[in-house]
Amino acid sequence: MASKLHPVQERIAKAHGSQCGFCTPGIVMSMYALLRNNPQPSMHDVQEAFQGNLCRCTGYRPILEGYRSFTKDGGCCGGKAQSNGCCMTNEHTQEHDSSTLPAQKLYDQSEFMPLDPTQEIIFPPELMSLSKQPQRELRFAGERVLWIQPCSLEELLELKATYPNAKLVVGNTEVGIEMKFKNLFYPVILAPAYIPELNIIQNTQDGIQVGASVTLTVLGDVLRAAVKKLPAHQTEVFKAVLEQLRWFAGQQIRNVAAVGGNIMTASPISDLNPVFMAASCKLTVMSKGEKHVIEMDGKFFPGYRKTILKPEEILLSIEIPYTRKGQYFSAFKQSPRKEDDIAIVTCGMNVFFKEQSNIVQSIRISYGGMAPVTVLATATCNRLLNRQWNEELLEEACTSLAEEMSLSPSAPGGMVTYRRTLTISLFYKFFLNVQHKLSLDLLKEGVTVEDVRPEYATATELFQLDSPSSVQLYQAVPPGYSDDVVGQPIMHLSALKQATGEAIYCDDIPCYENELHLALVTSTKAHALIKSIDTSDAMAVPGVVAFISAKDIPGSNMTGPVVYDETVFADDKVTCVGHIVGAIVADTQAHAQRAAKAVKISYEELQPVIVTIQDAIANKSFFQPVRSIERGDVAQGFKDSDHILHGEMHIGGQEQFYLETNCTLAVPRGEDGEMELFVSTQSASKTQALVAKALGVSANRVVCRVKRMGGGFGGKESRSTILSTVVAVAAHTVKRPVRCMLDRDEDMLVTGGRHPFFGHYKVGYMNNGRVMALEVTLYSNAGNSLDLSLSILERALFHMDNSYNIPNIRATGYVCKTNLPSNSAFRGFGGPQGMMIAESWMSDVALSCGLPAEEVRRMNMYKEGDFTPFSQRLDNFTIDRCWEECMQLSDFNKRKDAVEQYNRQHRWTKRGLSIIPTKFGISFTAVFLNQAGALVLVYSDGSVLLTHGGTEMGQGLHTKMVQVASKTLGIPCSKIHITETSTNTVPNTSPTAASASSDLNGMAIYNACQTLLQRLQPYKDKNPKGCWEDWVKAAYFDRVHLSANGFYKTPDLGYDFETNSGRPFNYFSYGVAVSEVEIDCLTGSHKNLHTSIVMDVGKSLNPALDIGQVEGGFMQGLGLFTLEELRYSPDGYLYTRGPGMYKIPAFGDIPIELKVSLLRDAPNEKAIFSSKAVGEPPLFLAASVFYAIKDAITAARAESNLTGPFRLDSPATPERIRNACEDKFTKLVCSNFHC
Ligand SMILES: Cc1cc2nc3c(=O)[nH]c(=O)nc-3n(C[C@H](O)[C@H](O)[C@H](O)COP(=O)(O)OP(=O)(O)OC[C@H]3O[C@@H](n4cnc5c(N)ncnc54)[C@H](O)[C@@H]3O)c2cc1C
Ligand code: FES
Repeated sequence: MASKLHPVQERIAKAHGSQCGFCTPGIVMSMYALLRNNPQPSMHDVQEAFQGNLCRCTGYRPILEGYRSFTKDGGCCGGKAQSNGCCMTNEHTQEHDSSTLPAQKLYDQSEFMPLDPTQEIIFPPELMSLSKQPQRELRFAGERVLWIQPCSLEELLELKATYPNAKLVVGNTEVGIEMKFKNLFYPVILAPAYIPELNIIQNTQDGIQVGASVTLTVLGDVLRAAVKKLPAHQTEVFKAVLEQLRWFAGQQIRNVAAVGGNIMTASPISDLNPVFMAASCKLTVMSKGEKHVIEMDGKFFPGYRKTILKPEEILLSIEIPYTRKGQYFSAFKQSPRKEDDIAIVTCGMNVFFKEQSNIVQSIRISYGGMAPVTVLATATCNRLLNRQWNEELLEEACTSLAEEMSLSPSAPGGMVTYRRTLTISLFYKFFLNVQHKLSLDLLKEGVTVEDVRPEYATATELFQLDSPSSVQLYQAVPPGYSDDVVGQPIMHLSALKQATGEAIYCDDIPCYENELHLALVTSTKAHALIKSIDTSDAMAVPGVVAFISAKDIPGSNMTGPVVYDETVFADDKVTCVGHIVGAIVADTQAHAQRAAKAVKISYEELQPVIVTIQDAIANKSFFQPVRSIERGDVAQGFKDSDHILHGEMHIGGQEQFYLETNCTLAVPRGEDGEMELFVSTQSASKTQALVAKALGVSANRVVCRVKRMGGGFGGKESRSTILSTVVAVAAHTVKRPVRCMLDRDEDMLVTGGRHPFFGHYKVGYMNNGRVMALEVTLYSNAGNSLDLSLSILERALFHMDNSYNIPNIRATGYVCKTNLPSNSAFRGFGGPQGMMIAESWMSDVALSCGLPAEEVRRMNMYKEGDFTPFSQRLDNFTIDRCWEECMQLSDFNKRKDAVEQYNRQHRWTKRGLSIIPTKFGISFTAVFLNQAGALVLVYSDGSVLLTHGGTEMGQGLHTKMVQVASKTLGIPCSKIHITETSTNTVPNTSPTAASASSDLNGMAIYNACQTLLQRLQPYKDKNPKGCWEDWVKAAYFDRVHLSANGFYKTPDLGYDFETNSGRPFNYFSYGVAVSEVEIDCLTGSHKNLHTSIVMDVGKSLNPALDIGQVEGGFMQGLGLFTLEELRYSPDGYLYTRGPGMYKIPAFGDIPIELKVSLLRDAPNEKAIFSSKAVGEPPLFLAASVFYAIKDAITAARAESNLTGPFRLDSPATPERIRNACEDKFTKLVCSNFHC
């Protein structure tokens, strides 16, 4: 460890804000940069600083809480709290049963080192002095690219005349993407970032002139200063630009991206161009010897990503105009995620009224996202001239926009109905905004026009990120047991190393001297025969050593975690886009990747191409067997029911998006076929076995070592083995170490994710909401191989009841075989999909009965001793307790009244509330996997080296296992160390999965420690006053064996689908969540206002880690159910390959108020030290957000007299929310277009 930590590093670690740690250095640097610029930031500044950072593990709350300590807001609730968590913690503690112990802190803020800005390193003066020296032209000639940085405008224009096709690059945020991901190649690049004329900022008579190289951060600063200084009516456009900049990428991008770069990229979804176009900004354009000014109008973008500038011309500057009295301007951006996301529709709207009137003199509306270029709604604007700004104008404008802003049903980008509706909805927002401002302004001049109705007012408000607050409650270790490390909120043992960046991940392993890099060659067709592979161009790329394919495999090319139904390298046929066909090994990653792209494969396409579940159903493309579970008399149940309803739901897939992508380093040992693998995997033994199979050697020749992963979430349970096998085969072939860490787009292309599910159901129920009978059919989209899909479907079936007791039930499940990369394990493993469909029919029943959903849910809930449809008795059933506590914690009844009142008072924003339980079965459903081993080595100095079968992926398994060993051996954690997981210490390990790793490995460690304790007992007896070291030393000199193996298998497991008998699970984890949301009915955006979670984790081994799992799992569920969307073309090509297109929750998505409570006094006799599994169960609780959204939509639909059940698929994206909130605007689009 570094000798001195910076407070920024210390606080994220101690606040439990680092789990896998892969995001941590990036977050540390964002916070550090903020503090260097602003030593006393506000909480809002902190949130803004993190707009460009992502974390997939923590759920963000602990990071924000830890860093709140730096803010002037002064910690929780304005500084009232003494330590972490919320000042409300103590209040709530008091509300609990007096027999319980007070809640303790998860960390002690008073231990934090103070931040002393005077001690920061200074910017090197030598570098500062360089900036004063005269600029010189810089030239860098690379292998393929010439990069020139001219130092004057003349030089730049001269160069542009010489190289008219040269690319200008300022921030490189667009060109960089084009070169890396779109395969575009620019041999000459000109960098004009420091040319003074391109950095000009000057006030002109008509506005502010801004040089094209001015960064967006600087532009924001300049406009903010102008808004402060100038009269409000003059800065309408400036405010609109600022509003767009608020949601433009993240701080890191805004710091380097230039305004000219945004204009000249000519993206149809540029955020600034619609504003500049609606404001008629003036652009100064120059070439050698020529300069002219043009207006940004409808002709400026003649085609997709084109401007009217000639190749030799450059953009010099833009003039952003002042506005006048009587002029109003707004800008809107609608994107799937609020922070750092690209727009779906974006617009600028500009209206000018005749003096002292509400009569339109001129109007200009511009949209992005509605055509291949930024467009003006000229026809609509012409129709509005000389009209009064009133309801008739609104109607005319909307009808006209519905006609003018049309899209073909197959328009690129999809979401056609939504985008068309948005053009109208956003205009409506503008209309209300202007109506309000105009009425106030005219009133001052003695003219009265109608103001906005109070219930419409929220439609004019801008989306704001509120500062989050949180509460965490857990049962502390009783006084007197403070030496007992189990139950203490100990920090993740690697957290400090992760914060300083010293923690070693797979790709951090230093390069071997003769190491090579590997890049994958993958299929571009979803279903085709390979006719030929031409590697001649690839082999000509410098540094390329070999092309590896199926013919290089010495053993078997067939692989797979359960059945060997897939190939390491496609042989003659590909069955998905991204199917691995071969690999290039070269001296560098760049050469390998370039060569991989140069491999030419010719195909003969095959039919059918099956992409969706619906395609699979139509083609009867299923893996076998079809699974079913049945209990009771379903036909009779339907007969006895008062009503029957039918429904359907589709749940989209999800990308694991571990921040560390798949990585393997394979090192051939040079003798006896030995191969050493360093891998980021959850399955060391499976990797070992499958690599050995491909290499044609026995498993004892292959060692797989795993230090830690930068996240796994199931994605590295089986899918990582293919990459490891490919890399191992390559290393074997070239007889040199080979490394491959996939880029994000490659990782998303070749590995599958969570299975999309489709369910249809028939429910029989009584008038009071009691469900009598259920028939449900589930389909999962498995992709092109079976992988773990059968077990995943089985788990979905085991969870199809969620927490409800349905007397007569029949469920059938089909695993669909499609032409997508094989879908696989992802936190929850099918359970969330099964439960989600249960909540869909539960919601339908409540809506059709007209009863409160919480009452219907409560009435149907299991009770202690009930049996599940798979005949397992529910013992120690704690959902009732979680439910009651969650109702209290969230103040449910009061909240519900407030929601209803809010909804009566607001037409265009609605709130919704929901309470959802979860019951999650713990055990691998494949019985043989429920085993674990451990090896405990005690050295003669008393230090202990612990090894077990589980891998560390951020969840804190190693920390918990050290705690278990510490408690069992009775020694401090500091004496115990875990270096890694490896197949040569503990054999035949099960994957670290199914939430069961603490249970299984914990027991194995416990058993090993017990063996050691027995061996040491004579020495303790001989020397009772001695210490651990004394006993160990004495035993050593007495020649006692000081290492021990431990083993554990879960007893009494096994379920038979044929007879519906046996026990699939060792026990169940339970939890309940309440969530409240607010939706914007016009745009479909939503805000997560509140979430309370009560989770039964038994007697927590480590409350800080367990709360981390609850919050992190919840946030992943939030992504699954409200945000994350994988989009494919009809021929199976994944569009959403990377963080630009695929959006996981960001800092701004966490509930504004988040309360997490670990259920007290709930020991679980079935697991180590009475604990319970926690990794997966909380994820489903995010369904409470989905159903709160559905509740809000129900309120919106009621305004249009729509009642009763309606279908809402998951995720509840803005598109789905907006389309479900049917109103006059959606009707207008639909009447114009066949929805
Ligand atoms: C993570 C991420 C998030 C993003 N988010 C957003 C967003 O929210 N909204 C949005 O609109 N865009 C977004 N972008 C796109 C991009 O950041 C912007 O378009 C940005 O303004 C480009 O500026 P740049 O200086 O980086 O351009 P560069 O990549 O350097 O150049 C872009 C183009 O402009 C040309 N160019 C630059 N200067 C001149 C000049 N003076 N004369 C002629 N041509 C010139 C270049 O030749 C090139 O074709 C995002 C990009 C990334 C990577
Ligand atoms: S801790 Fe943030 S991604 Fe793992």
